[in-house]
Amino acid sequence: MSDIDWESLREIATGAMRRAYAPYSDFPVGAAAIVDDGRVVSGCNVENASYGVGLCAECSLVSNLAMTGGGNLVAFTCVDGNGDILMPCGRCRQLLYEHSAEGMLLETVSGVKTIDEVLPDAFGPRQLEEFHNG
Ligand code: THU
Repeated sequence: MSDIDWESLREIATGAMRRAYAPYSDFPVGAAAIVDDGRVVSGCNVENASYGVGLCAECSLVSNLAMTGGGNLVAFTCVDGNGDILMPCGRCRQLLYEHSAEGMLLETVSGVKTIDEVLPDAFGPRQLEEFHNG
């Protein structure tokens, strides 16, 4: 999957960013990803008057993934209110890891990286599986 059109994916993320509901932080975020069946999913942040309840753009994207048929993410990008690349927060790296295809790529501020590079030695479904089934 080295033939990813990052610019197009970033444009979709920017479109999602324009739908953000971020009246408290005034920091709109958009995210977009390619699914292993070729679908594209996207999301925006949705804040709340109870600040801690706000949803990151990645939460919205992962919900979109589930609602449109599931699957695993092969390429991901995220942008800020200027359309510039934004690194997913720590919690969202974990969210993405759960739904990532092996070797999922992310467009980052320091180049294209794999999910394993941005969340090394990740905790995930395998640890639960190993504990329960040996
Ligand atoms: N935000 C995201 O949507 N994704 C990230 O990975 C970083 C932070 C949102 C959360 C909040 O609505 C706003 O950016 C400011 O933190």
